[in-house]
Amino acid sequence: MNILVTGGAGFIGSNFIYYQLKNHPDDRIVCLDALTYAGNLANLESALNHPSFRFVKGDITDRACVFKLFEEEKFDIVANFAAESHVDRSVENPGVFLHTNVFGTQVLLDACRQYGVKRFHQVSTDEVYGDLPIDRKDLFFTESSPLRASSPYSASKAAADLLALAYYRTYQVPVTISRCSNNYGPYHFPEKLIPLMITRALNDQSLPVYGKGENIRDWLYVEDHCAAVDLVMRSGRAGEVYNIGGHNEKSNIEIVKLILKILGKPESLITFVADRPGHDLRYAIDNTKITSELGWSPQTEFEDGLQKTVQWYLNNRSWWENILAGEYKNYYERMYARR
Ligand code: NAD
Ligand code: TYD
Repeated sequence: MNILVTGGAGFIGSNFIYYQLKNHPDDRIVCLDALTYAGNLANLESALNHPSFRFVKGDITDRACVFKLFEEEKFDIVANFAAESHVDRSVENPGVFLHTNVFGTQVLLDACRQYGVKRFHQVSTDEVYGDLPIDRKDLFFTESSPLRASSPYSASKAAADLLALAYYRTYQVPVTISRCSNNYGPYHFPEKLIPLMITRALNDQSLPVYGKGENIRDWLYVEDHCAAVDLVMRSGRAGEVYNIGGHNEKSNIEIVKLILKILGKPESLITFVADRPGHDLRYAIDNTKITSELGWSPQTEFEDGLQKTVQWYLNNRSWWENILAGEYKNYYERMYARR
């Protein structure tokens, strides 16, 4: 199989490429990534010299670049991870989210339609379903929950999902979609909750918790997500959506306290700051479809996964210190100065 992974220099995409090279050594992987602020070639360092791997710097919204690559490579499978992915940035500047997440997906779908693929897999998010009340632990997102996106980020992901399903119905492009809960693990960009808190705690800096820290996310170790996407793109039914989540709901404040405990740092670092506008209260996934139909189940317990993740940030200090030294530093100052 010749597989295109877009956005493979980001957090989940790079983990997915390592998962593919390890578990499907006969397949070939091409990564197309624009290397935005979130894309980092250092994430792919161990893959770059692999004989079954090719990296191409390019933008999924660049039709000429995408079509040329499809012409050259005759892909069997396309897995689209490329996206603008941070909710807070989407609140600040929605335009680029629509451009990359919606228009970029359309360009890829058009290329799949023109050149023919066995599968176009769209990596989506549980955030397309909006949120659930904190005090209704009996409620979960299923694949038929209505799309009720709250942020420009989740609205752009919902739009891309609908477009992919429309290309299946109208043009018979064989699409699948997976909607996963929050991931954590190695190579997670330090603007997201878990890596932000780990890196700031390691530097003895304040830990900005939005509102009262009561919002709940359903956390999944990134490798479990990669295994699920791998199963859906190879064995899932075309035209179908699969939710991915491991029934691991935690409030933000619980997570931050756990990180401080692992690192042996004081809770006095926690600072409660102004809430995120439109902040989703709770995400929780019903994973019945993927577990019963494809036999997937999460393998990593949260406490083990968090320990491994903290250890990875301790072992790879120069990785995140280089990021903090760059453009991201200006972003942090801009975003948090007002809070
Ligand atoms: P990320 O921000 O770490 O990485 C995104 C990657 O896409 C980067 O390498 C970036 O350079 C690349 N990219 C951005 N715009 C591009 C463009 N126009 N052309 C080509 N490449 C481009 O994101 P992530 O956390 O790894 O998320 C990957 C995917 O998974 C996204 O589609 C996201 O919506 C989805 N997702 C993420 C989570 C999560 O918890 N992080 C959960 C569920 C779903
Ligand atoms: P984030 O990692 O941005 O993921 P998402 O918004 O896509 O779920 O945020 C996870 C949760 O952590 C979310 O409820 C917002 C909260 N949060 C903070 O409290 N402080 C922070 O500095 C950040 C980045 C997030």
